[in-house]
Parts: sequence; structure tokens; C-alpha cells
Amino acid sequence: MSRTPAVNGERLLARLAAFAAIGATPKGGVDRQALTAGDREARRLLADLAAARGFAVLQDEAANLFVRREGTDPSLPPLLLGSHLDTQPKGGRFDGTLGVLAAFEVLEALEDVGARPARAVEAVAWTNEEGSRFQPGAFGSQAFAGGTIPSEWREAQDRDGMRLSDELRATLAALPQAKSRPLGIPLAAYLELHIEQGPALEAEDVAIGAVTGIQATRWLEVSFTGRPAHAGTTPLAFRRDPLVAAVAVLGELHRSIMPADGDARLTVGRIAAEPGSINVVPERVAFTLDLRHPDDARLAAIDATVREICARHAAAAGCRMEVTVLSNMRSAAFPESVVTLVETAAARSGLSCRRIVSGAFHDALFLSRVAASGMIFVPCRDGISHNEAEDVAPAASIDGATALLNAAVDYLELAGAPERNARA
Ligand code: HGY
Ligand code: MN
Ligand code: MN
Repeated sequence: MSRTPAVNGERLLARLAAFAAIGATPKGGVDRQALTAGDREARRLLADLAAARGFAVLQDEAANLFVRREGTDPSLPPLLLGSHLDTQPKGGRFDGTLGVLAAFEVLEALEDVGARPARAVEAVAWTNEEGSRFQPGAFGSQAFAGGTIPSEWREAQDRDGMRLSDELRATLAALPQAKSRPLGIPLAAYLELHIEQGPALEAEDVAIGAVTGIQATRWLEVSFTGRPAHAGTTPLAFRRDPLVAAVAVLGELHRSIMPADGDARLTVGRIAAEPGSINVVPERVAFTLDLRHPDDARLAAIDATVREICARHAAAAGCRMEVTVLSNMRSAAFPESVVTLVETAAARSGLSCRRIVSGAFHDALFLSRVAASGMIFVPCRDGISHNEAEDVAPAASIDGATALLNAAVDYLELAGAPERNARA
């Protein structure tokens, strides 16, 4: 008598705890930034768990890590499930990791009952989704979707001057047991479970978000260059102070962009003055801008407004201005067939569900360029994320994995009792 695959909740929660211990911070978060020793340790743990179940372990030149459970017809493109294992410097235990471990749980649940669908099912951990150590974000999934790693990305450096290409090489070498595979393989479909990272599902007491799409994101670095001068001897008229320009720009941007458009998001995550000496009028001030909007045209208009405001205040302060685009992600809409697959799976799981647009970008944004893709959201406490206090109720993690499993089973047309395979 064959059984229907089911999520082993205890096993999933134990895995989440094990991964949360890799890079754990004193305040209960995780610091496991892309291509660090912590990232490599998490990858090794996933590879060891995979090997213990007889799954294949593969990685491509972007160090995307795949765990593959064979189907009966290896010629068919696989169903791919996954997310990312890298975190923000002061990140949470669930952002990305829940999606990777739930994907692995699907493979284990299929293996537990000896299900043998025609298609292989794979779990993936994409490299450097966060983009906080090396820009751009979603590095691995963009390389997968584009079939190449742009040379300028390989030259990216972190704030300690470490080069991405060196860190990538060390990460690949840290998993010698992984078979290498080409960058970008044909896929049947891609599904990603992720925490909402916002307040809507929890506020409405809804268990599952059927994600309809992802808004556009653009990362800029703005720099103003003036003239370094003595803090004590330089009167106002002789100053060309880039900090004066930056303060004027940031004040005007914060007063205008988000108050004028409730869908717009503008964030200054980092600002630095050089040479950074207490008694020197700065030579250069640089800050980052994270701009988002559901509408690509509106985001382009906001970008143009930002540049106009920067140019005006740079001129007024007698400074030179430079704007560098660090990342440019146009929005994505997921196919109705995949959104419906998620809604049906939630219903089959006995879980409430509502449609939602993602405010955060995800690897699924780029997978949607090359395969039918979609996402499943679960609520996180107070919508907090990118914060060590990020938290997800155990039941929500299990619900999300259950919806992912049922969506995968429906997709693999295993509805009903899957056939036990010959080995069982
Ligand atoms: O920034 C983002 O939207 C993603 O969570 N890294
Ligand atoms: Mn994430
Ligand atoms: Mn994130």
C-alpha cells in the first residue's frame, strides 16, 4: 500500500534549528553572508544531508548548489524548488533558509514513501541572493537565468577588499563531492517558499500567500566630491562640502518620494564620508539608494527625480556628483497557472490563502525569465525581516512546507497515492 508524501514537521524544525546555529548572532539572528566560511559550512551541511538520503549534489560555476532526486525519466527537465542560504549581516533565521530546507523536505517526503514521479525534483540554494556583501543581489539566480557571470560581477569587492571571484573559487572548492553542471539548465518549473517579510498575512491571519509577482528594484550609489579643507580655518564661502549636498538631497528625497506615492520605497542603507576625520571638511560623501516600485515606469521616473535633485544640490554646494547603478531588477508577474497551483495546494492543505505582490526581490524574479515560476509566502512575526528578531511560528514553517509539497505533488501529477518505486 503506497502512502501519500507528507511533511515531517519535527524534521523540518530540527533542520531550521541546525542551520540557524551556523552564523548565529548573540541576539538570536544569523550572520551568514554570501561566500563566507559560514555560507560554506551551511552548504556542506546541506550536501551531507543530501548524500545521506542518496540524492545527487551538483553545483554550477556560480556556486548555485543543487540537490537532485531522480525521476523515472532523466530526459525530462526537473521541477526545481529552493531559495537561498546566505543572510544579511544581521539577518534572520528564516529569510531564504526556510525555502531551501522546505524544498529539501519535499525531496525527503517523496523519498519516505518511495514516490517515483517521471520528473526529477531538485532543491537549490542560490548564491548571494542578499547582495549585501557583493552586489548585485540574486547573483546566482541571475547568472543561472542569463547563462553567464558578467565579468564586472567577478571583479566586485566587499568592504574588506575581498574579491568575489576569489571567494567564489574558495566556495566551489569547499564542496569537492559536488558534481559540476552547466550554468542554466532547462527547467519544468520553479517554486520558492519564503517568508513574507511584511505584515499583511499575519495582520489578516492568512496562512499562505499566493504570490502574483515581484516589484521592481533599483540600487544606486550616489557620491558627491568637494574639496577637503581644514575644519577650523575654512569659512563657509570657501567650502565645497559634499556633506552639505548629501544632507540637502536626503532631506528632499525623504520629504518627497514616499509621502507622494504610497507604493514607492526609498531607503538609504549606507552613508560614508571620506577621509572621515573629525577636523576635515570631507572630500567625498557616498550613500546607497534602494528604490522600489510595483510599476517599472514609475520607478524610472523616481530614478530621474533622484538624479535631478542630486545634480541641483551638487551644483549649489560646488561639488561633483556621480550616480552608479549597482543593480536594476525590473518587476515580474508569475503565470496564472502557477499562482492557481499554489492556491489549489493551499486549499488541499486546508490552509487559508490570499494573493499578494512581493515587496522584496527573490531568486524567483529571475527564474521567472526562464521557466514557469511562482512563490509561496508564510507570515512572519510583525512582518519583521532583515532583522535579528525575525521569527516564524513553527506551525507556519510546517504549513509553508506542506503547501510547497502539495503544489509539487500536484505539479508532478502525483495526485492521489504515488506508486512505490521498484527499490522500495
Ligand atoms: O532586498 C531584498 O528584497 C531581498 O530580501 N534581498
Ligand atoms: Mn530572501
Ligand atoms: Mn533578504
